[in-house]
Amino acid sequence: MAFGHGKVILLGEHSVVHGRPALALAVERGAEVTATAVTGATARAVTTLHIEPWNVDVDTGDEPNLGREPLQQALKVARAFYEDDAREFALQATMRVPSGAGMGSSAALGVAVLRALDDARGITRPEQEIYERSLDWERVFHGNPSGVDNAMATYGGMALFTKGSPLTRVVPRHKVSLVVAYSGSSSSTKLMVDSVARQLAKEPVRMNKAFDAIAAIVRNGQLALETGDFAGLGQLLTLNHKLLSGMMLSTDVLEEMIAAALAAGALGAKVTGAGGGGCMVALVDSPEARAAVSAALQQLGKTVYDVESGA
Ligand code: PMV
Repeated sequence: MAFGHGKVILLGEHSVVHGRPALALAVERGAEVTATAVTGATARAVTTLHIEPWNVDVDTGDEPNLGREPLQQALKVARAFYEDDAREFALQATMRVPSGAGMGSSAALGVAVLRALDDARGITRPEQEIYERSLDWERVFHGNPSGVDNAMATYGGMALFTKGSPLTRVVPRHKVSLVVAYSGSSSSTKLMVDSVARQLAKEPVRMNKAFDAIAAIVRNGQLALETGDFAGLGQLLTLNHKLLSGMMLSTDVLEEMIAAALAAGALGAKVTGAGGGGCMVALVDSPEARAAVSAALQQLGKTVYDVESGA
């Protein structure tokens, strides 16, 4: 089985598209994909992809998969890496992160599909190539991805990511405990990234100041992680959220969830990922705080994911 990690952006989403750093961590749940060779007279000469629990099917055939064109296009991009090889495969994917929720589902799926296609052909490839290929996959959905999702999906762990630079590994002093909760509505990363780009074109001074402020928050966040100052890290999360809200990336529901998490004892909380829906993340410092924050979010009817990253 091939795997791609989901991810949580701790600090720095959106500004990372504009060259600033982001702090992200991979989660143990993500996309799992197996490939089975398609043989026999009745086999269709296409690569197919079935995704559970979404009950989605796409293939690399000429007929458009109506309503699934971007995913079909992404699968064609993956298939095209093997143009000298006529063998076709049936791919079975299981997604363990929600889609359109800021947890990097499309990058996780891309990495897992590319690894499964390699595995099925007996190819071992440097991780860097998987990362680069998965960026081509991701571009189909997002147009202008920073690459942070793909880097985390490929390499796992916790890292400082800056577009075009090697990943800097971050080793936290203590285990990082997060509560991630889904607002119940998905959003389009492409639309949110486009909206920020429009704001940048209209108000470059204000937006660049905000991006620079977030870059400072990210650098301080790295220090806070490394020195174990989680109270400080929590404040940085909340500060980052205020700057993201100023870019119209929050929603009433996310604000309600963040307020509930803070009231229940979270050290800090923010939207994570593209915003406009999707997920929020809260930092907690004890099993009791985790239970209280999770309960507060569940009381709002939200789905909660526990995320931990080792020291
Ligand atoms: O919501 P997601 O998982 O697609 O995360 C996107 C992160 C952004 O910074 C908003 C976009 C990017 O390409 O980095």
